[in-house]
Amino acid sequence: MTPRIAASLAAAFSLAAGSAQAAALAATPPMGWNSWNHFAGKIDDAAVRAQADAMVASGMRDAGYTYVNIDDTWQGSRDAQGEIHPNDRFPDMKALADYVHSKGLKLGIYSSPGPKTCAGFEGSQGHEAQDARTYAAWGVDYLKYDLCSLGNAMIATGSLDKAHALELAAYEKMGRALRATGRPIVYSLCQYGVAQVWRWGGSVGGNLWRTTGDIEDKFPRMVAIGFGQAGLAAFARPGQWNDPDMLEVGNGGMNAVEYRTHMSLWALLAAPLLAGNDLSRMTPETRAILTNREVIAIDQDRAGRQGDRVRAEGPLEIWAKPLAGGAKAVGLLNLSDFPAKMSVDFADVGFKGRVTVRDVWAGQAVSAPAGRFEVLAPPHGTVLLRVSSSKPKA
Ligand code: GLA
Repeated sequence: MTPRIAASLAAAFSLAAGSAQAAALAATPPMGWNSWNHFAGKIDDAAVRAQADAMVASGMRDAGYTYVNIDDTWQGSRDAQGEIHPNDRFPDMKALADYVHSKGLKLGIYSSPGPKTCAGFEGSQGHEAQDARTYAAWGVDYLKYDLCSLGNAMIATGSLDKAHALELAAYEKMGRALRATGRPIVYSLCQYGVAQVWRWGGSVGGNLWRTTGDIEDKFPRMVAIGFGQAGLAAFARPGQWNDPDMLEVGNGGMNAVEYRTHMSLWALLAAPLLAGNDLSRMTPETRAILTNREVIAIDQDRAGRQGDRVRAEGPLEIWAKPLAGGAKAVGLLNLSDFPAKMSVDFADVGFKGRVTVRDVWAGQAVSAPAGRFEVLAPPHGTVLLRVSSSKPKA
């Protein structure tokens, strides 16, 4: 074997090993909590501990939520050796990680490939390997890496190609740095879905990548983001997920029907489920939405396939997600402001013959005579079904 062939074989193996590693790290879409949507810049050590406590007490951990992720504004300054230190709202990051781990949970953190984060705190540019080692030493299990100020340098290149090369190199650099620590750290890219990140996010080591700008706790914004995911299913797979941003369930800007639509759509999309509310103060209704086992099972299905739009008639949409073993999740989503009669022929989503249908939010079987299902969907509401072929009677 020539050295060249040996080198390219080794590269191919390490790529394959890399993607096997990615699949092991995020075999199903990551689940957890992130501080930004509710706390934004008002997050501190005590609040993070309270979220970890609540994640356990509420049953969320048992339902599959694992990561407790600190977003922007934890950073202090660098010392003479360039070591990043947390600010005084986070007195001891290692102790915090130990606490989170003691609850059977994992800790996530946030940085930027630019000099500054989006909130103007210290980024990782020029300190990638050092920061990755610091995170690993603290016991960090997840990094969200947010483009922010690197965008200025990209614009300054004056060329789309150069800007893209700069971005790619920056994300790749941190991907390598994380792997070099030897600690399994989920790598979450956040660059708002530009430059078709779903085509290259995996190649720089990403386990998930944001596909959109920021979500807001408003029905129209959630709808614009969620339904904007049509066409991206082919780019998701175990270890590498499209991320339409964190959940707003329980933050108060939508009603329960709308939050169920939000949760249903994210499950159909095999989206990461990162709660964004204050878990220590949630209502039983919010908890029930976030912990619905059947909905979570659709999101976390082991086949790891993202769902997509089947059909839209104005504001009435049908989406479907293939599940392991030939079943499918089917969503009937009514985006209109009025109740609407909606129906689906299961032949249109790939079923031949008799089907067994379960309404997952209602938690009960429903009948679908002649392979057709009809329902009155409430305004902004979703009926989420799990459909499988009926076993022939013995
Ligand atoms: C960007 C990201 C958000 C959040 C903030 C923090 O806007 O998209 O998710 O991390 O930065 O500053």
